[in-house]
Amino acid sequence: MIREIVQIGDPVLRKVCSPVSKFDGELCKLLDDMKDTLKDAEGAGLAAPQVGVPVRAVAVDVEEGYFEFINPVFVWQKGEQTGPEGCLSVRGKSGTVRRPDKVKIIFQDRKGDKFSLVARGFFARAVCHELDHLDGVIYTDKAENIRSEEE
Ligand code: CO
Repeated sequence: MIREIVQIGDPVLRKVCSPVSKFDGELCKLLDDMKDTLKDAEGAGLAAPQVGVPVRAVAVDVEEGYFEFINPVFVWQKGEQTGPEGCLSVRGKSGTVRRPDKVKIIFQDRKGDKFSLVARGFFARAVCHELDHLDGVIYTDKAENIRSEEE
C-alpha cells in the first residue's frame, strides 16, 4: 500500500527515531508499504519517519539492489564525495552535499537477524542520507546550496 510521504515542516521529520524492538507483522506491513511508496515515487531511499512513523527503519533502492536496514548504525565512514542530492520530503529541490565515499554499517533485517554491509559511491550517499533521517536531519541542513528543479 502506498503511503503519503510527509513533507519538510512536519515535526515527525525532526524526531530522533526510536529503535525497532518488535520484529512482527506490523513492522513487515510498514516495510512493505515503504517499498510500494518508494517504488511509486521512484526515489533512491525512504526512511520510516517520511511515512510518519518515527522508528529506525530505512529502505534504499540503488543499482546494487533493494535494501531494508533496521536499527542501522555506522561502523566507520571513509573518504569524501561531493554531489547532488534530493529528498522525497523536499519536493522539487536539490542541493550539493558532502558525504563519506565509503561506509560500513551494521543493521538488522525484518526478521531481526544481524548483518553488516559496506557501501560505496552513490550507495554510500543514499545510506548516509537515509540514516540522517533517523536522527531528524534533512539534507538541506548540510547542503552547500539548494536549487529549485522546476526552474
Ligand atoms: Co530524504
